[in-house]
Amino acid sequence: MHYPVMLPEVIAAMDLKDSGLYVDATFGNGGYSEAFLSAKMCNVIGLDRDPNVYNRAEELSVKYNNRFSLIETKFSEMDRIDLPMVDAVVMDIGVSSMQIDRADRGFSFMRSGPLDMRMSTSGASAADAVNLLPYDDLVKIFKVYGEEKHSRRAADAIISSRQAKYIGTTADLATIIEKTLGRNGKIHPATRIFQALRIFINDELGELYKGLCAAERVLKPGGRLLVVTFHSLEDRIVKSFLRRRTGGMVSVSRYVPEQKKVANVQTFIDGKRSVIKPQKDEIKENPRSRSAKLRYAIRTDKTPLKADDRLLPDVIGLDEMENYYE
Ligand SMILES: C[S@@+](CC[C@H](N)C(=O)[O-])C[C@H]1O[C@@H](n2cnc3c(N)ncnc32)[C@H](O)[C@@H]1O
Repeated sequence: MHYPVMLPEVIAAMDLKDSGLYVDATFGNGGYSEAFLSAKMCNVIGLDRDPNVYNRAEELSVKYNNRFSLIETKFSEMDRIDLPMVDAVVMDIGVSSMQIDRADRGFSFMRSGPLDMRMSTSGASAADAVNLLPYDDLVKIFKVYGEEKHSRRAADAIISSRQAKYIGTTADLATIIEKTLGRNGKIHPATRIFQALRIFINDELGELYKGLCAAERVLKPGGRLLVVTFHSLEDRIVKSFLRRRTGGMVSVSRYVPEQKKVANVQTFIDGKRSVIKPQKDEIKENPRSRSAKLRYAIRTDKTPLKADDRLLPDVIGLDEMENYYE
């Protein structure tokens, strides 16, 4: 089961209407989709890059008389799959409990399984990354995506272990990291390393930025963009995207000052300026929700600048991220 995070706040910000068309861009276990379908006579299109959500999608489609349909895709592609213009897009970033809890998906150091971590079925796995990437890349991944202070020590340990034996399981990697960094307090020392690899393997931050740009293109004027994030790396991307698109000027990198000269088109107005956080009761019931943040904005009728696409590689490249997050 996956507990839908901040559901009452998401429903309120969606401003659901009968006959509205909504995109649940991170379908998962369909907690949001089902709540929308049961609240109004609306239609919902679910997106997910993980084919394992099919059965649940089929269940919703039958239960709600085809008012629901699923498209297997990355949400960064939502403007390229012939969607009609929609009334809202919601993105609940990250992995689902179903993905983390299945040992064979390789997301968790708590369960031994193949070191996989892919949300979809294609692309390189976490085992490919730790066994094949050069030292400098591993250091950068751990430092930037894991905000790991001991990125060099962790990468050193991986390089020397893999010379002796292929690192094939989550347990192999967790043991190497625990032996190297030691245990200090309640948090497992491999937590940040696993987070970093997951973000890297699934290009989660690049997907997020591209997903925001794609959502901007499929929303009707007056349509709503909602994003729930779980850590500061993600929230910073959403915050800076919305600041820029609501008319503010932000510097993506202090090393690329000319980006400041790109004129902003106000494609959104703030739904609420400040971030929305879960209620205490929800955090008590579902501790995973404690770091959740919801931001939302309302689409204007302005066309996004074509030139803004140019910023994309700079925003998401690992080198650029390193400067951005210093
Ligand atoms: C946190 S769960 C969403 C849970 C959902 N809101 C619910 O109530 O059940 C995130 C889901 O989004 C999917 N996902 C993550 N990144 C994605 C991307 N870039 N494109 C499409 N799906 C993605 C994951 O596979 C996962 O199933």
